[in-house]
Amino acid sequence: MYDFRPDPALEPAERYRQLHDAAAALTEGECDSVANMANVAALIWEYVPALNWAGFYRVGAARDGSAELVLGPFVGRPACIRIPIGRGVCGAAAAEGKTQLVEDVHAFPGHIACDAASRSELVVPVLRGGEVIAVIDLDSPDPARFTADDAAGIETLSGLLADRI
Ligand code: SME
Repeated sequence: MYDFRPDPALEPAERYRQLHDAAAALTEGECDSVANMANVAALIWEYVPALNWAGFYRVGAARDGSAELVLGPFVGRPACIRIPIGRGVCGAAAAEGKTQLVEDVHAFPGHIACDAASRSELVVPVLRGGEVIAVIDLDSPDPARFTADDAAGIETLSGLLADRI
């Protein structure tokens, strides 16, 4: 049994340090990307407070063979399965290869509402060899929930996962 339960009083920096250690330990030596994404989504859910969705979209193939985002392992309500690159917050992160920190999702052009409760969102691309292979998506019911510390924490997590998903 794994029992990764952070102390609720932890400062964000320490919370993210523990999340990184837990993710590194849990994915070490495991080559199945679905298993690793599933466990990391569960860890994000445990370590990052005030979320209503946490998980992955992978870059996959559309019916016409072009690239699009395809839903991966997550914790939260059932979500949209396919997102065109460039559309919504996740699509923007994939198109630009850059973190998107959105304080108010209703003000983001093209935001895709998978859960009406979401008010703010953080999406971090996962790059391997300079190519975006997936994005990590965090949604919160709280407005302006995410800070630069959260972005940095999830970016470090993304770097750690590049060869493990
Ligand atoms: N809101 C995202 C879609 C994914 S869900 O939040 C899980 C977006 O605009 O890309």
